[in-house]
Amino acid sequence: MDQHSPRPHLSRRPTGPLSGRATVPGDKSISHRALMFGALAVGQTRISGLLEGEDVLRTAAAMRALGADISRDGADWLVSGRGLGGLIEPADVLDMGNSGTAARLLAGILSTHPLYAVMTGDASLRKRPMGRVVDPLGATGAQFLARAGNRLPLTILGARDPLPLSYRLPVASAQVKSAVLLAGLNAPGYTEVEEPEPTRDHSENMLRHFGAQVTVTQAGTGRHIRLRGQPELRAADVAVPGDPSSAAFPVAAALLVPGSEITIANAGLNTLRTGLFLTLREMGARLDVADQRTEGGEPVGDLTAGFSTLRGVDVPPERAPSMIDEYPILAVLCAAARGTSRLRGLAELRVKESDRLTATAALLRVNGVAVEIEGDDLIVHGDGGIQGGGLVETHMDHRLAMSALVMGQASREPVRIDDASFIDTSFPGFLKLMRGLGAEMAAA
Ligand code: S3P
Repeated sequence: MDQHSPRPHLSRRPTGPLSGRATVPGDKSISHRALMFGALAVGQTRISGLLEGEDVLRTAAAMRALGADISRDGADWLVSGRGLGGLIEPADVLDMGNSGTAARLLAGILSTHPLYAVMTGDASLRKRPMGRVVDPLGATGAQFLARAGNRLPLTILGARDPLPLSYRLPVASAQVKSAVLLAGLNAPGYTEVEEPEPTRDHSENMLRHFGAQVTVTQAGTGRHIRLRGQPELRAADVAVPGDPSSAAFPVAAALLVPGSEITIANAGLNTLRTGLFLTLREMGARLDVADQRTEGGEPVGDLTAGFSTLRGVDVPPERAPSMIDEYPILAVLCAAARGTSRLRGLAELRVKESDRLTATAALLRVNGVAVEIEGDDLIVHGDGGIQGGGLVETHMDHRLAMSALVMGQASREPVRIDDASFIDTSFPGFLKLMRGLGAEMAAA
């Protein structure tokens, strides 16, 4: 992805409403974990609905390089695992592309496997902090060498006699929590993590599904997680639900374009992921869930969104972990709402695929929206409409690209983006799906 040619795109108001029923690609977080856990288990894991986005394909390639047998079988994926502790030394550098989740979770796994491995990523990932995993993982006995500021490329020498970890997360991060838990898999005794706020619990759910013993207890405002080390991980089939973070984009477009009504079927609805939908309801959005059910241990349902007159909202900081990837698209919705919105406690946005706090403010500003950053809060002054007409810099960040393209569906002037290519990291088929619902977005 580093030497790619940028693919500028333009988005303009459609002539009619958006309508139809669609499914979005599989959940990114669950897809990474299904491949990793399948590779660590004994036996063959069948995964349906796997996200075939660049980020997840990087994880598949890395797990193959570590000895797992991974193949496609029709629409499903099959993973023949090595068994815990059975990974082999990779013959070359592991390139995790744009994916922070892949890099950080894999660092956890590798820290307790006695192997030498080097991990790198694209220009965006090489800027992102790895100290947040290297620091706790060092206590397993693993050794890490990284560039200044704990940036990739990262060399990992996994511990031969790993120690279990007991760690309190300094930031609410499911990636760090998962890295510690995955390290604990191949260490004796109990690994414990305490998180200050609950973050997505896909690792905990899926570890249990593969036969590990994981207990979760309430601890103040957060949670305490305890994993028994060296379990017998058994292959287990995984049905990946649609990614709610991807569903957010067509849902937002339907809320913005007059007369629209769309349904996204089979969307994941884990409550640690649905802070955006809660917030949208507070803004007055018409959003309904039908046929709510549990599939593969995760709640799913069909999400219907209809055009709505939105009002500004005040989002508390403790909601951030449940909607951490949704702030760029929420900011677009706040710009189209009436009144001022305050999105609080967004420090973590500064270390995503881009500095999303600064870049989201710039996305809005270049399209005529009044916006401020105050400390870690984003303040958006909505006046019921968006001017548009801007060229948005997407900084190798898929969610900025999709947010800007959705904005163009509702702004008076078309919105342009410098590069749509990174959308493929999480949402292959985004443009096709949006056009199928009636959106007007094209290469430009
Ligand atoms: C993820 C956790 C979040 C999120 C990312 C996926 C995961 O990151 O932003 O897209 O799958 O665990 P942090 O845990 O760093 O907030």
